Amino acid sequence: MIRTPLPPSYNEVVPKLTFLPANVTIDWDPDTLLYSEHGKPHSILDICMHHGFHLEHACGGNCACTTCHVVVKQGESNTSEMEDDEMDRVEEAADLQLGSRLGCQVVVTGDVVVEIPDWNRNYVSEGGGSMNLGDAIPAAKR
Ligand code: FES
Repeated sequence: MIRTPLPPSYNEVVPKLTFLPANVTIDWDPDTLLYSEHGKPHSILDICMHHGFHLEHACGGNCACTTCHVVVKQGESNTSEMEDDEMDRVEEAADLQLGSRLGCQVVVTGDVVVEIPDWNRNYVSEGGGSMNLGDAIPAAKR
């Protein structure tokens, strides 16, 4: 479980981002989170990169692949609206389902629980590097 050190008084208001099925939770102070060019500021990918949690991102967070695919299971109201470019790209994702989003595009504003799809679950590691998923990615559903 990844936890950044926060003053106890912040624990009631600090957003939490939880990844299933690993049940890894990242909490952060939105006022101090720094953007370092990994997807949109305060996106799931941005939060992951700042906390040493590896989420695959083959295109570098530019909405040009689907390797950062996550499925929002709880807290949809705490996520940004899907924009046209994300909508066009996520439709190409393997295992597309209700709640599918691109981690580099979805901005988080409160508590959110996401699931990492089966096909890339084994490629998630803390501090790991990007890798070529090759044939491990199933074909997109049409
Ligand atoms: S990292 Fe490529 S679309 Fe998100």
